[in-house]
Amino acid sequence: MNNPLILGIESSCDDTAAAVISGRKILSNVTSVQLIHAKHGGVVPELAGRAHMEHMADVVQAAVKQANVEFVNLDAIAFTQGPGLQVSLVVGTSFAKGLALALQKPLIAVHHMKAHILSHFIEEDGMNAPAFPYLCLTVSGGHTQLVVVHSATEMDIIGKSIDDAAGEAFDKTAKMLGFPYPGGPYIDQHAALGNPKAFTFSKPKIEGLDFSFSGLKTSVLYALKKHEAEDEMFVQKNLNDLCASIQGSITDILIDKLKRAQLQTGIKEIALSGGVSVNGGLRQKIKEWSNERPDMQFYFTPPKYCTDNAAMIAIAGHFLYHERVFSDQCVAADARLAW
Ligand code: KG4
Ligand code: ZN
Repeated sequence: MNNPLILGIESSCDDTAAAVISGRKILSNVTSVQLIHAKHGGVVPELAGRAHMEHMADVVQAAVKQANVEFVNLDAIAFTQGPGLQVSLVVGTSFAKGLALALQKPLIAVHHMKAHILSHFIEEDGMNAPAFPYLCLTVSGGHTQLVVVHSATEMDIIGKSIDDAAGEAFDKTAKMLGFPYPGGPYIDQHAALGNPKAFTFSKPKIEGLDFSFSGLKTSVLYALKKHEAEDEMFVQKNLNDLCASIQGSITDILIDKLKRAQLQTGIKEIALSGGVSVNGGLRQKIKEWSNERPDMQFYFTPPKYCTDNAAMIAIAGHFLYHERVFSDQCVAADARLAW
């Protein structure tokens, strides 16, 4: 079957999501964002698990309804097996297993990070799929990875963060500036109005293609403490410049390693995925690079497919369906799912 109808279910962190795909075309893409975590400064696992339980059935039913299909006509149920928060993953996994059992349909376990990478294959106006092999920088709240993508099912990680993920670097520094969780988008908005050279923060000295963001975080913390001791209004007075300088440092670290990986591999197809790939400063730096390198191709997805979503689980399910990679009813959610 060339255009299988697949339901994708995502619940790895704090978004309850479901999508229906026919072939590589998205018929529906529903996400229920858990706003409850904003005031806690980060995702509270127990609250996330409970919110997934409350919303999963409604979200899945809305996705099937909006796609204008019937449950019985689905060819398979794809779901995020991991990595992520165990209490969150368990909800989507159990729901998918129950549904597959009731409908007697194949079950497809998807790796969340591989799904971010495969989101580029969604067929939609304005989107182009990269050619294999391509180099993918995946930057999210939980991971920062450089991956050589040989095919939809063969991918090698050639670089990763040894401490915080890029999204965590955004969110933790945003918290220091007083923004609610997740703070990445707030930094992005204020950075657009600030000077990225106003403040200098320490740069990591990590060999090879691995990333590190913990030094930057500490450097921002010490700078804020020092300046606030002299002027308690320091953050308010310099908010845009602080955001621009933090964003400039994080995106410099990302671009530096991405350029190194490109040199090392010689791959001229470059894709970005994950929530942080929405970032305006990062997109601007890629644009500048693409102007210097007309021989290379660069790929972004629209923001709705960058941050956590179920469309990417559905497209990953599409490829696994064609490879006949199905799971049985013993499959379990796995917070540290292997690559
Ligand atoms: O991919 P994602 O939705 O979830 C994970 O799998 O982690 O990524 C979430 C991360 C958060 O850290 C959030 O602050 C960050 O993506 N993010 C951004 C922007 N939009 C989302 N970071 C910087 N600038 C943005 N515009
Ligand atoms: Zn994600």
